[in-house]
Amino acid sequence: MTQGYDSLYAASLDDPETFWKEQSKHIDWFTSPDEILSYSQEGNWKWFEGGTLNTSYLAIDRHIDRGRGGETAIIYDSPVTDTKRRYSYRELKYEVSRLAGALRALGVKRGDRVILYLPMIPETIFAMLACARIGAIHSVVFGGFAAHELQKRIDDAKPKALLTASCGIEVNRVIPYKPIVDRALELASHEVDSVVVLQRHQVKADLNQSRDHDWQHVIAKSMPAECLPLQATDPLYIIYTSGTTGKPKGVLRDNGGHAVAMEFSMRTIYDMSPGDVFWAASDVGWVVGHSYIVYAPLIRGCTTVLYEGKPVKTPDAGAFWRVVEEHHVNALFTAPTAIRAMRKEDPEAALMKRYDLSSLRNMFLAGERCDVSTLEWLSCNLGVPVIDHWWQTESGWPMLANMTGIELLPIKPGSAGKPVCGYEMKVVDEYGAECPPKVEGTLLVRCPLPPGTLIDLWQDSERFQKSYFDSYPGYYLTGDGAYRDENGYFYIVGRIDDVINVAGHRLSTASLEEAISSNPSVAECAVIGIDDALKGQVPIALVVTKTGLTAGPDELEKELVAKVREAFGAVASLKHVLITEHLPKTRSGKVLRSALRAIANGKELPSVATIDDPHVLDEIRALFERELFEAKAVK
Ligand code: COA
Ligand code: AMP
Repeated sequence: MTQGYDSLYAASLDDPETFWKEQSKHIDWFTSPDEILSYSQEGNWKWFEGGTLNTSYLAIDRHIDRGRGGETAIIYDSPVTDTKRRYSYRELKYEVSRLAGALRALGVKRGDRVILYLPMIPETIFAMLACARIGAIHSVVFGGFAAHELQKRIDDAKPKALLTASCGIEVNRVIPYKPIVDRALELASHEVDSVVVLQRHQVKADLNQSRDHDWQHVIAKSMPAECLPLQATDPLYIIYTSGTTGKPKGVLRDNGGHAVAMEFSMRTIYDMSPGDVFWAASDVGWVVGHSYIVYAPLIRGCTTVLYEGKPVKTPDAGAFWRVVEEHHVNALFTAPTAIRAMRKEDPEAALMKRYDLSSLRNMFLAGERCDVSTLEWLSCNLGVPVIDHWWQTESGWPMLANMTGIELLPIKPGSAGKPVCGYEMKVVDEYGAECPPKVEGTLLVRCPLPPGTLIDLWQDSERFQKSYFDSYPGYYLTGDGAYRDENGYFYIVGRIDDVINVAGHRLSTASLEEAISSNPSVAECAVIGIDDALKGQVPIALVVTKTGLTAGPDELEKELVAKVREAFGAVASLKHVLITEHLPKTRSGKVLRSALRAIANGKELPSVATIDDPHVLDEIRALFERELFEAKAVK
């Protein structure tokens, strides 16, 4: 008899070593691990120590070795360039091994970092797998980030090479990348040896520095590289994510634990078999893209869809359903914002109904909270299970879900499901005591975290320890608030820190504040997220100006919105700046962001016993009434 969710989950917690030893047999090791779970002197856990493998081999070569080289690995569907192209596993190997050879010829060695500032094109996947092939550590930077954010990542990762393209395409707007890269490198103190540029035909980038190389030229001269055997504990990639300061966190992932978790999740959560078609409609710059556009589907031997387009406007709100029909997609994963955007333009799902969606077995949502109305609209119209599930850049794969490959549990709208195998979750109050059902608290995961989760922060073990483990010893602090019900389902209520989630994009308010504060008229500022019907949250800035300011508030708002766009990137979606005389602060001078968030979102005020001047909160409330709520009501 096959095992159901309850018994498999219990087995994963009762004896993690036996459980993950079993799961690790689903990937091909060059040499088997000596240990399944071991600990460093500092007490950090390690998975599969002593094992050697290569992630590029697992994602490509092993399928060819099993006679599946002619099967489709990638379907590239790009409505913005009117291109569709399929790559078989054999073709993927050809592309990846030559690019890996080219990187090697440029002096990139095992352990060197390579930054990829690339749009949603097959070459981005080739580049990730090429780095994995030779043991270089890639760090993909999302194309929506501007030069200053790219510079921060360059200075932190200190890459040997940077790979980019001449442009990205946003619906019908072409965004030249090379000027952004040049500016970032100018701002950075670290010097990159080589910049490799893929010329797309929409824009020709200037290759004017001795460090610049044309992608096609370096490939033309290269010799294909074979897969280098790597330690399971060797790093595969760094992915930067937003924390509570302006300095992004370099989440570090290993090779062995990651490969095991990717294969396991594809099989047990997404119910995908080799040959099935999986589509994660996200961006390769985010963790969803890393795990479920690239690594997991390919390691499992599936076909992955790489879509360079939007849910709406490319050309309409039927775009996703056209892709599902045309490529026989078996499971689709996207962010709720994408569904809300489609629903707004196609409320009766008339466009959806034009397509044959019979290939679709399950639909998955994550990246932000999914409101019940959106989930119900989608499941009613699609007629397949719509599964909300929850995870983070740090975990790399789902922590709460409905493990459809094991047993489809009843779906409870509003809940992100039950804990996934390997994750023991707990909701606690401010004193660390476990909350009873239906009472909100802080969501924790018991250590050791399962394979595939972050192993460190790049070159910052102190921050790693402080951010995630110091608050509740023995537990990982997720940064999310949640509650559970009597049946063990969890409900995520939102971040408990200053991270915001805009259209499924995780952003740090501190980074936006940094950009705003650089304006000479600004004395101080606070950025908070407010609820938004389409994007889940959008940022607003509260600004205290310096005395003697000459610009009017409208003019200043325009200046600050433009500054954030230029310094951080358009993806911040900052549209509103409210000028105030004071910010609410504690007696020690800390801005009370939690109180600002509560007022802006019509929630109960947190305890603000230490507030310096309680009248400031009334002033802010009146300001929001005037500038935000009334403006919304008029609209
Ligand atoms: N490169 C450059 N600019 C980018 C970008 C990228 N990769 N991604 C977004 N931007 C820009 C957009 O063009 C937009 O610019 P604009 O203000 O000039 O119009 C701005 O950043 C804000 O983008 P976004 O928040 O995505 O809003 P939008 O109005 O362009 O699109 C949706 C709305 C719903 C279509 C879009 O947010 C979406 O597809 N969301 C799903 C997100 C997702 O998949 N997240 C991954 C997590 S699973
Ligand atoms: P990221 O690291 O960019 O993937 O963002 C992770 C954050 O997004 C989480 O900490 C949550 O705050 C939020 N998030 C992701 N998935 C969900 C979900 N299913 N429901 C609610 N919030 C989610």
